[in-house]
Amino acid sequence: MVVGLQWGDEGKGKNIDELLSHGVYSGVARFQGGANAGHTIKFKNKTFIGHIVPCGCLQKNIELYIGNGVVVDAISLMNEIKQLKDLGLNVVPRLYISNRAKLVSYLHPFLDQADEHRRNKLGTKVGTTSRGIGPAYSDIRARRGLLIGDLLLPDFAQKESILTEFHLNFLNMYKEKYGFEINLEKIKEAKEKWNKAVKELQKLQICDLSSLIQKKLSEGKNILAEGAQAVMLDIDFGDYPNVTSSNTLPANVCLGLGVPHTALRDVYGVIKAYTTKVGGGNFPARIKDQALEKLFQNAGNEFGATTGRPRMCGWLDLFALRHAIGLSGANKIFINKADICLSDKVKVVTGYIYNKKILPARNAFSIADAGGKEFPLYLSEVKDVITEEISGWGNTNYGVKDKKKVSKELASYLKYIKNKLADLDVKIISVGTGPDRDHFFSWDK
Ligand code: GDP
Ligand code: IMO
Ligand code: MG
Repeated sequence: MVVGLQWGDEGKGKNIDELLSHGVYSGVARFQGGANAGHTIKFKNKTFIGHIVPCGCLQKNIELYIGNGVVVDAISLMNEIKQLKDLGLNVVPRLYISNRAKLVSYLHPFLDQADEHRRNKLGTKVGTTSRGIGPAYSDIRARRGLLIGDLLLPDFAQKESILTEFHLNFLNMYKEKYGFEINLEKIKEAKEKWNKAVKELQKLQICDLSSLIQKKLSEGKNILAEGAQAVMLDIDFGDYPNVTSSNTLPANVCLGLGVPHTALRDVYGVIKAYTTKVGGGNFPARIKDQALEKLFQNAGNEFGATTGRPRMCGWLDLFALRHAIGLSGANKIFINKADICLSDKVKVVTGYIYNKKILPARNAFSIADAGGKEFPLYLSEVKDVITEEISGWGNTNYGVKDKKKVSKELASYLKYIKNKLADLDVKIISVGTGPDRDHFFSWDK
């Protein structure tokens, strides 16, 4: 499995695409999330941003799986299939969708916006991607959602209209109670697009994916699970409520694909050499110097692959990273964007200072008190961070593919990180120096 260890957008797409290029894996599987993801892959003259189609789509021999844990946005899916066709790739014969995957309805994005409107009034906006992720998972948990397999059953239209009626009641409640404006024209447009996309989706390979994957594994094939979002956005272990609505952790791979826990092998964790975040909530490692943050944003092209929103930029947060490694069991680390460094000195966050409200006797609580283990319940409690400063490495490492050609400052930074993680069983296996599949050098063997 490949998992993001920060707040998403670590460059997972690039690493997944590269891992798939060695003939080790026969397929790649999304197991959670939906079209909120934006995974960029670049190879030679081709660039593709996958929101729902798994990375690996640019490689002709890789099978593409969408597991039962995914909430499928039919419009995004059909758009992406078309975009890939325009790139000369027909992915339909190698794309398999679980009949137990969940269908995002055309009103889910509106409900997503409506709830953001409500939260905004309370000052607690999450800053979702507006892809209907929260409402789609809510419907599933409340046992009124639609499964992809329903598309093939005779009573689909009836099930869909029952759900639509429920959604419209809900939207009217948001209008009456919270003043959410319902745009009937936009809803009509969405319905038309969705109806068309759903008809096309019906013709794709919808199957019992759990059985299919189990069969592949029993034949000795390897499959890569493609994590979307990241540990800090996990519904249980991220910074609730500023999280997504699925479990992003490797523990969810088995449930999101329908395989036993014994099927999980290596866990590749992905980070950037710094940190970025989009959406609401406290971001303790955020760079305080706004001009410097802007430099990182521009040099790193830190604008959302899904929404185009500017990403906040922060220093590498080792406190959150240790939390993420502990939860995910990541044992092999990719560090991306090591080509981007905009200051002579860089900071690294090594601890949080926060008010531990349930234990008033011990107010300032830091990594030292917690033995490096305790993580605050809410990041909003974090008042400041403990940092260390080390030399920056400039932008001389762009495109470096050989460990021996790395600037000595970047080499020191990597050794510094390795040292800070020395008590954990992890290796830094690869360091990214640009957006292309082959823009990286191997570090730890
Ligand atoms: P994902 O969601 O984790 O797959 O990441 P995104 O695709 O949302 O964002 C990562 C961005 O960084 C994309 O624009 C990638 O092309 C780019 N990228 C990935 N690795 C590197 C790297 O090592 N250096 C640079 N400069 N860009 C990178
Ligand atoms: P990838 O896979 C970065 C964030 C949103 C918001 C929160 C909830 O590209 O790394 P949602 O639409 O899921 O209900 O939004 O989660 N978010 C992401 N941030 N990368 C992502 O995916 C994200 N997917 C969701 O910005 O704060
Ligand atoms: Mg992304």
